Amino acid sequence: EKGGYDTFMEKEINEQPRAVGETLLGRTDESGALVLDELRIPEEALRRVGRITIVACGTAAYAGMVAKYAIERWTRIPVEVALAHEFRYCDPIVDEQTLVVSISQSGETMDTLMAVKHARELGAQTIAICNTHGSTIPRESDAVLYTHAGPEVAVASTKAFLAQITACYVLGLYLAQLRGGSYADDAKAVMAELQEVPAKIEALLGSLDRVREIARFMADTRAVLFLGRQVGFPVAMEGALKLKELAYIHAEGFAAGELKHGPIALIEPGQPVFIVVPGPDTPHGLHGKVVSNIQEIRARGARTLVIAQEGDDAVVPFADEVIRVPRTSPMLQPLLTTVPLQVFALELSTAKGLDVDQPRNLAKSVTVE
Ligand code: F6R
Repeated sequence: EKGGYDTFMEKEINEQPRAVGETLLGRTDESGALVLDELRIPEEALRRVGRITIVACGTAAYAGMVAKYAIERWTRIPVEVALAHEFRYCDPIVDEQTLVVSISQSGETMDTLMAVKHARELGAQTIAICNTHGSTIPRESDAVLYTHAGPEVAVASTKAFLAQITACYVLGLYLAQLRGGSYADDAKAVMAELQEVPAKIEALLGSLDRVREIARFMADTRAVLFLGRQVGFPVAMEGALKLKELAYIHAEGFAAGELKHGPIALIEPGQPVFIVVPGPDTPHGLHGKVVSNIQEIRARGARTLVIAQEGDDAVVPFADEVIRVPRTSPMLQPLLTTVPLQVFALELSTAKGLDVDQPRNLAKSVTVE
């Protein structure tokens, strides 16, 4: 049932092109316009949405953070991301114009379920982004947008994460389309680009031997840092979470801009740091800013493991290792930049002789508060 792979996690990492492809399937018409009939919330109600709150936990919350950047950019609707267990107990500001979007692979996470129930009591419209048909959270929501990643068995989430991000993009683009005008034109263009991503993930998966090699040499590492900016920031945190879960190594993800506000004190000779570099075409010159960050930490002796787009040569002088990902537009990059970090954690865990699919102390779905 592991389809020839040693572990479910490895299998699921390799299923990601399909997870993304299936999640896009059937969600556009012949003209490339988005169709989400399944949403079952009237279009007028969706047009009236004044704000969006995303509730989720763990990896799903990182998907929500990616969604915040994308949905705000494409729709100009304010989006907040709340950890579900915090949301429920902070007297959240929610009303009839609020759309509460939950994200959950299992559909059974108690914290997320409680947040959804609370949001409904407060009058919000609720949409569940979920991977499990017939599970509790979709049943307790007004509408559901299923991710089609297929069953995820390994405790650490991989293909469900990429599928969640994909579904969030689809929802954001759909809302942009409802807004009409130039928003709708942009939505079509992004959707077309999104359709090309599964093949790019496939190509990327075939090019990660060096990542595996790096991981195998790092079995004794005590701490790894991850830096990212904009949509790369949640990717950095996801990379760190995977390493904690799978390899029991202290790992932390930072927003690259925070470096000088504290974390740079952690940099000492030999400290491994992954840097998720935004594409050179990212607005506001963020690429150059992150390249400067790499330069700064390299000057202090960090071992820089740089994840950068093909053709981005600016990183080369400051990188101990360059891990290449295919080009895509800046907002869609997480679907690619996450993959080497998953493979890194998998390989490091394996090198340490640990149980990749069943890390200690963790359960696949957390059905208690
Ligand atoms: C991390 C992981 C967890 C889950 C979280 C939410 O690899 O698997 O952080 O993402 O417990 O679970 P779901 O998505 O089932 O609500």
